Amino acid sequence: MIDPEDLITDDILAYLKTQEEKGLLRFITCGSVDDGKSTLIGRLLWDSKLIFEDQLTELRADSKRLGTQGDEIDYALLLDGLQAEREQGITIDVAYRFFTTDKRKFIVADTPGHEQYTRNMITGASTANVAVILIDARKGVLTQTKRHSFLVSLVGIQNIVLAINKMDLVGYSEDTFDAIKEEYEDFVSGLGFKEIAAIPVSALKGDNIIEQSNNTPWYRGKTLIDFLETVEIDNISVDQPFRMPVQWVNRPNLDFRGFSGTIASGSVRPGDEVVVPSSGKTSRVSRIVTFDGDLKYAFAGQAVTLTLEDEIDISRGDMLCAPDARPAHAAQFEAHLVWMHEDALLPGRSYLIKMGANTAPAMVSDLKYKINVNTLEQQVGKTLELNEIGVCNISVDKEMTFDPFNENRSTGSFILIDRYTNATVAAGMIDFALRRATNIHRQPLDIDKKVRAKMLNQKPRVVWFTGLSGSGKSTIANHVEKRLHSMGKHTYTLDGDNIRHGLNKDLGFTNADRVENIRRVGETAKLFVDAGMIVLVSFISPFRSERRVAREMLDDGEFIEVYVDTPLEICEQRDPKGLYKKARSGALKNFTGIDSAYEAPENAEIVLHGAEKDPEELAEQVIKMLFPSN
Ligand code: ADX
Repeated sequence: MIDPEDLITDDILAYLKTQEEKGLLRFITCGSVDDGKSTLIGRLLWDSKLIFEDQLTELRADSKRLGTQGDEIDYALLLDGLQAEREQGITIDVAYRFFTTDKRKFIVADTPGHEQYTRNMITGASTANVAVILIDARKGVLTQTKRHSFLVSLVGIQNIVLAINKMDLVGYSEDTFDAIKEEYEDFVSGLGFKEIAAIPVSALKGDNIIEQSNNTPWYRGKTLIDFLETVEIDNISVDQPFRMPVQWVNRPNLDFRGFSGTIASGSVRPGDEVVVPSSGKTSRVSRIVTFDGDLKYAFAGQAVTLTLEDEIDISRGDMLCAPDARPAHAAQFEAHLVWMHEDALLPGRSYLIKMGANTAPAMVSDLKYKINVNTLEQQVGKTLELNEIGVCNISVDKEMTFDPFNENRSTGSFILIDRYTNATVAAGMIDFALRRATNIHRQPLDIDKKVRAKMLNQKPRVVWFTGLSGSGKSTIANHVEKRLHSMGKHTYTLDGDNIRHGLNKDLGFTNADRVENIRRVGETAKLFVDAGMIVLVSFISPFRSERRVAREMLDDGEFIEVYVDTPLEICEQRDPKGLYKKARSGALKNFTGIDSAYEAPENAEIVLHGAEKDPEELAEQVIKMLFPSN
């Protein structure tokens, strides 16, 4: 074996050339420090005279100094390592190490193995081709071994190395090795792994890491590095049906219209027929354009611009696909969801879903069950906390193009993003499209909001009162309604306490229930506005996110947020229903302002200081703002 270091000093260009031609294998190591994980990684790096990340940085500096194009290659290697995660939008901390042998380049994702790092493991595993599952030969298959195996199967890894470590401490016993191997294979038989290579190793002593060990004459299989160098990498298979999510439409002038993106799977040639599932329109590829000239053939992983023979409607977020193997196109689907954020999932909350280049509002409409990651048992649950995994239905505001995850890792996965903080809150894998609602279309109606509003001679609107319990919302809203009524306006009031006796009587005061409460009220208010009415909504509505969704359902100027800003002390002194007292004594849980959050509006149309004026005066302020000339 050539020592790469010699090659670097002797002939950097030759070295870089060999790097360029090598394949890249991404793998994840699963186990804990006790299992010898760090030792194993350390040994892998040292024993094969591999290149360290910092050496690569040096290499880059060297190439720059020499002014060769070699600079690019090193950069690409580093970039490759992180780009996939960045594209997915997952930014959870994972340590990546880069190294290379003379056969392959490697990126190892190294994550802690404890349950509280499930999200890190999912992030690290999400782009890996192989998982190395570490077992301490003295301990055998543990709960964590099962959890790690489940997690890597969840993100579609099919090749497993079962590194049975610390063989030196069990006298290199073949029986011990066989027993562990058997138990493991038994456990994972349902997880869909394609290949499980069990290797007896001692990371500390170096057995079967790089060289065949004399201590295990009974083992005839590959060493760890042999396996990693030769295992087939097949996650972005060129053999899969063609898929290219359109990242942007490239239209520099009237004569050129190209669709740019990275081919997610399959391959394409000029003349190939493609379909756009959002419209069902088909055309043929006329050119495959790249910076280095046109191509005759392009395949998964390449970034290209395609031009088509026909002018068909295609925009960012659409997907170009093989017509004989079409993906699903639906607004609802079932998925496995891994929750990655400290703030728990709120079913019914509007998140952003990001699937490739496509982003849209979406919500978890039904959490079917949670999966206990240690036992794989299904459990009932109303929410997912950090690191929990569940199976749920997701409903998106528009139709999306996708594949089931087990058919296509790249077009079958997505992330959910919090709309306020932009944090990635979940990673998901699609099970299948739900077609239930696809046969329901919107019925066009001739009599619409405009016509009704005209007949009622008013501008329909929602006047949305938000504030703590006891802040005075309902009292003020009541005065406003009386005034509007006397002005001949057509009004209706939706009040929390009343709606909770009917439409929302199934809901309590957990965060999830409040989200659903406000979602329904927002929808109802929208219907009333559509009917031409001026709607007064009086709900604590504690979360910005749901108030914003209610606002966004309406046209500009139709949503007037009235923040009744009465200090908690005053509300508590008033305590009209004696609820604060109960909450303070602990008899009432999740009470807003006491042990449940209230997020004050940042941009309310009007703020009323509930402690300073009486409700009638405050109502007058609202009327003035609605009808300035009155
Ligand atoms: S919201 O938070 O979901 O918007 P909503 O306005 O519907 O609340 O209901 C609030 C009313 O329910 C309060 O005015 C109070 O009378 C009553 N209530 C009962 N329990 C609670 C609680 N835990 N937190 C807040 N309000 C409660």
